[in-house]
Amino acid sequence: MVVIVGAYFRYNRAGRLMHKIPGPPKVPLFGHMVTTYKNPDSIFAHLRIWHKIYGRLWRLDGVHIRTVHLYHPEDVELILSTTTFNQKDLPYTFLQGWLGEGLLVSNGDKWHQRRKMLTPAFHFRILNKYFSVLCEHTQDLIVTIENEIDKGKVDLLPLILKATLLIMCETALGAKPHEIPTIKSYIESIHKIDLHNFTKNIIQRRRRNRNKAIELQENIQEEVKATMLDILLDEEAKGNINDKGIQEEVDTFLFEGHDTTATALTFMMMRIANEPDIQDSIYEELQDIFGDSQRPPTVEDLTKMKYLECCIKESMRLYPSVPFLSRHLTKEVVIAGYTIPKNSFVDIHVFDIHRNPEVYPEPEKFRPERFLPENTVERNPYSYIPFSAGPRNCIGQKFAIMMMKTLMSGIMRKYRLEPITRPEDLVFIADLVLRTNHPIYVRFRPRESVTKNTRKQIMTVNF
Ligand code: HEM
Repeated sequence: MVVIVGAYFRYNRAGRLMHKIPGPPKVPLFGHMVTTYKNPDSIFAHLRIWHKIYGRLWRLDGVHIRTVHLYHPEDVELILSTTTFNQKDLPYTFLQGWLGEGLLVSNGDKWHQRRKMLTPAFHFRILNKYFSVLCEHTQDLIVTIENEIDKGKVDLLPLILKATLLIMCETALGAKPHEIPTIKSYIESIHKIDLHNFTKNIIQRRRRNRNKAIELQENIQEEVKATMLDILLDEEAKGNINDKGIQEEVDTFLFEGHDTTATALTFMMMRIANEPDIQDSIYEELQDIFGDSQRPPTVEDLTKMKYLECCIKESMRLYPSVPFLSRHLTKEVVIAGYTIPKNSFVDIHVFDIHRNPEVYPEPEKFRPERFLPENTVERNPYSYIPFSAGPRNCIGQKFAIMMMKTLMSGIMRKYRLEPITRPEDLVFIADLVLRTNHPIYVRFRPRESVTKNTRKQIMTVNF
């Protein structure tokens, strides 16, 4: 029986087409399942090694699951630039128990209709309304860091995750931290996949408040209307989405919005701590904008932070929060001369696409100037895809950049980052969001004391 099944998958049309594609040797029937059944850090490392050996395009398969791995910008463009190939299946279905069928994992008409409905929630006019929320949470984070300073080294990810989650709660749901008694338990439970009660209560409360306002014939305040949840509640009133749909989308925003942004900020802070000259240049740009003033930033200030923006982009090149994308082919497609059969998966390796030495010479080096406008004109846009690309790209990317600029600039104005974790210490593990097998630490040193210490040293030298 095993032999018959094995022979069927090997010699049917799909099996014959896959056999022409290069890839590591496989065990009969089980294909590469045996080879890839390892722990998550060795899977990450193995995938990278196989790319080095087999190059632009290679295959892995196990019984009936066929996967083709892509790296070349032209191959990636073929898949991402069209809605023909934007079907998601595994591994996104792992998230379904948690996020339902929200925008990140939905398909077909449902995805299309929801994407159209949610796009206005990310218009820059709406995003600008969230800016004061970003500034308040930046101040709160600065105070939290101050309380952590005595520890010497700070474990970044939990600290930043809390800040970005509170930001998402306020911008997406209109919930202030003091209004959310469950926030602590949510933070503790997020990795236990228990999201729904938290968001359900907030959705119900928000709906009640809106209904009360309508009953009393009060105008729903501009400020109240500004959250992503309100846009969904408006659509519910028009009959375009139901309670379950709202829950799915809210859970998706909260999860996708806070985890990816916190991950990007964590890696960026670690790397900047290890790049003192670059850190000085960021600080100089901030000094040019703010001088010695402690005033809060404006949206206009953010547009002036050009060097910081290049650093954010360079950091997301080296440490893309979403290290790979996957699509399920509902049609056969020819890529780089190979016919990839219908029902195969294509995995797009963002992490290695961003480390292609032909596009990014000395790829491990941190060089923000790679993202100066004059250096990007010649580059294929599909060779830089931290937010994916095409019709199914990240809907929240402008908001994410705004969040990162506000938090980074606020922190850098107050603190100098000093290295604890080194880039070469990082061991990445295979996950939907980029993770390492150990915590990532930096040391924060208050800027004033840096200045004072430097002054003290100068005085000591002079006298
Ligand atoms: C640095 C921060 C972020 C990064 C690196 C990032 C990255 C991505 C990527 C790569 C995708 C495509 C996933 C795929 O196709 O497999 C995506 C999709 C998505 N992102 Fe983000 N994201 C970030 C922040 C945000 C924020 C702040 C929000 C919401 C407020 C958000 C909401 C979404 C949603 C809803 C999708 C699904 C879009 C669709 O399928 O139509 N993301 N993101």
